[in-house]
Amino acid sequence: MKPLRTLSLWWLATLVSHGGAITLLQVLQTYPQLSSLNVLVNSSANATALLANSNNFTFLAPSNDAISKFTNENPGVLNGTQLFPNIQYGLLQGGYPTLSITKTPQFIHSNLSNPNYANVTGGQVVELVLGSDGTPEFITGNGSISTTTTPDVVCVGGIVHIINSVLSVPVTTVLEITNAPLEYFVSILNVDNYLSASATYVNQILEVPDVTYFIPNSAAALAGATALAQNSSAAELEQIFQYYIVPGSVNYSPMLTNGMNLKTQQGTDLTITLQDGDIYVNSAKVIKPDLIVANGVVHVIDNLLNSFDTAGPPAPTTSVTTSIPAASITPTSMPTPSYTSSGTSNSGMSTGAKAGLGVGVGVVGLALLGILGFLLFRHRKNKAARTASVPWDNSSMSGATASPFNKFYVQRGQVQRQEDPGLGLQSTGMAHVEDAGMGGRDYGQIDGPSIPPRSPSRALRGDGKTYF
Ligand SMILES: *[C@@H]1O[C@H](CO)[C@@H](O)[C@H](O)[C@H]1NC(C)=O
Ligand SMILES: *[C@@H]1O[C@H](CO)[C@@H](O)[C@H](O)[C@H]1NC(C)=O
Ligand SMILES: *[C@@H]1O[C@H](CO)[C@@H](O)[C@H](O)[C@H]1NC(C)=O
Ligand SMILES: *[C@@H]1O[C@H](CO)[C@@H](O)[C@H](O)[C@H]1NC(C)=O
Ligand SMILES: *[C@@H]1O[C@H](CO)[C@@H](O)[C@H](O)[C@H]1NC(C)=O
Ligand SMILES: *[C@@H]1O[C@H](CO)[C@@H](O)[C@H](O)[C@H]1NC(C)=O
Ligand SMILES: *[C@@H]1O[C@H](CO)[C@@H](O)[C@H](O)[C@H]1NC(C)=O
Ligand SMILES: *[C@@H]1O[C@H](CO)[C@@H](O)[C@H](O)[C@H]1NC(C)=O
Repeated sequence: MKPLRTLSLWWLATLVSHGGAITLLQVLQTYPQLSSLNVLVNSSANATALLANSNNFTFLAPSNDAISKFTNENPGVLNGTQLFPNIQYGLLQGGYPTLSITKTPQFIHSNLSNPNYANVTGGQVVELVLGSDGTPEFITGNGSISTTTTPDVVCVGGIVHIINSVLSVPVTTVLEITNAPLEYFVSILNVDNYLSASATYVNQILEVPDVTYFIPNSAAALAGATALAQNSSAAELEQIFQYYIVPGSVNYSPMLTNGMNLKTQQGTDLTITLQDGDIYVNSAKVIKPDLIVANGVVHVIDNLLNSFDTAGPPAPTTSVTTSIPAASITPTSMPTPSYTSSGTSNSGMSTGAKAGLGVGVGVVGLALLGILGFLLFRHRKNKAARTASVPWDNSSMSGATASPFNKFYVQRGQVQRQEDPGLGLQSTGMAHVEDAGMGGRDYGQIDGPSIPPRSPSRALRGDGKTYF
């Protein structure tokens, strides 16, 4: 890794000293660990055109190892029709050097907006977050995590992170529910007749663009749903179903703020509460946030929602158990989950709950995306000589304000924070490139809110064929 980093600095230094800057396609052509990707991109006129003309981007480029692992498991996928959408998904809008990745997740729009693969306004997102060990992570469909092998390769118009696994284009909500360990929820769909042919509203809402789903997945929720099924009409069950769905907006966890109301498909509101690092929807706790799906986001919750009781969780000091009216049914009347053993699911959920997925703490919201988005790398020939030691010039940025952009700059090929002293080269820079490889200063983690570690259940998952 160290040699590769040195190599990247060497390339940049070389090109800068020659008065030019390397383009994105040149990065693919010159980095040996991107040769497989280069062959794939070169085989697709669409992909080549997209990458040749992009600007203000962060490109997530899978390494040769990543591609060979993926193609071994999914032969014929990446060199076929899936190539272009996958390239689009890796092309994020805006510049995100690793220094901009924090413990607060950021959901960054990509170039993928083809409705065959994604129905998210502005393009399907990739989650950027620092893992519990401080490693930058790129989280995509099915909770798959990619990390960088060579970060921060600066090029004309943007930045490239070479990553260790191919991104997973998020699957449809139906596939995600089936693939993820959501056995209780699948049982709930069964007992409440949501899978019957007459419940056409279910399929409809699973396919429309821009939806936030709150999906209950626990034994208590199944017990409650079983009771509801006994005493509710089909029309009432439809109303109940629609209360878990927020149409028209994709609310990733950092966007869920304390006291926020979300209007559901059913017509009445849900209330969001942030407490002790957890996110609550009415009184149900979010136990697994931010499953990215083709048309939005799924947050898994630990109990049913009651549209007649939008009160938040009990105050932290009291130890009152959450009461859902229908949940008083005795366990003996519970059907066995029809999916897999409830034991497996149960332990899975409690792991998630224990880990305290408090990613909503210190909510920053989309404003942060906008601010960080100003990181544009527009190295033009006449400016290239300066870029090694001067803050990135933002004079050519239309509509850009100076302050956010000044937070980062490139010095000797490395992205740095403005407030850091840098490497001690404020003017010439180029005379010192020979020790550029030693520039790997450890900035540690960016200051931010203290957030509990992410759940171990968000570990890297297999690369199944049905990713696409
Ligand atoms: C890309 O493909 C063309 C033929 O389609 C070939 O002439 C060219 O050498 C290839 N470039 C690279 C970098 O592989
Ligand atoms: C490539 O672009 C053309 C023109 O925009 C389009 O018709 C075609 O479907 C695209 N191919 C792929 C694989 O996306
Ligand atoms: C993709 O590669 C496989 C072998 O890995 C090959 O059999 C197949 O024909 C290729 N498909 C395309 C569209 O090139
Ligand atoms: C770069 O992209 C980001 C994200 O889309 C956007 O917020 C920002 O305004 C863009 N900057 C420029 C100069 O176009
Ligand atoms: C993807 O890139 C193309 C070409 O730059 C651009 O026209 C299109 O608007 C982009 N789509 C999204 C969703 O950013
Ligand atoms: C996107 O929405 C359209 C209908 O609006 C639907 O036909 C398509 O299947 C959806 N795509 C995905 C990936 O869900
Ligand atoms: C269903 O309704 C009946 C009559 O109102 C009531 O006696 C029974 O307790 C209810 N069952 C459940 C599970 O709520
Ligand atoms: C998603 O993850 C689950 C659980 O790890 C796995 O069983 C499933 O195959 C994955 N789905 C896809 C589409 O790869």
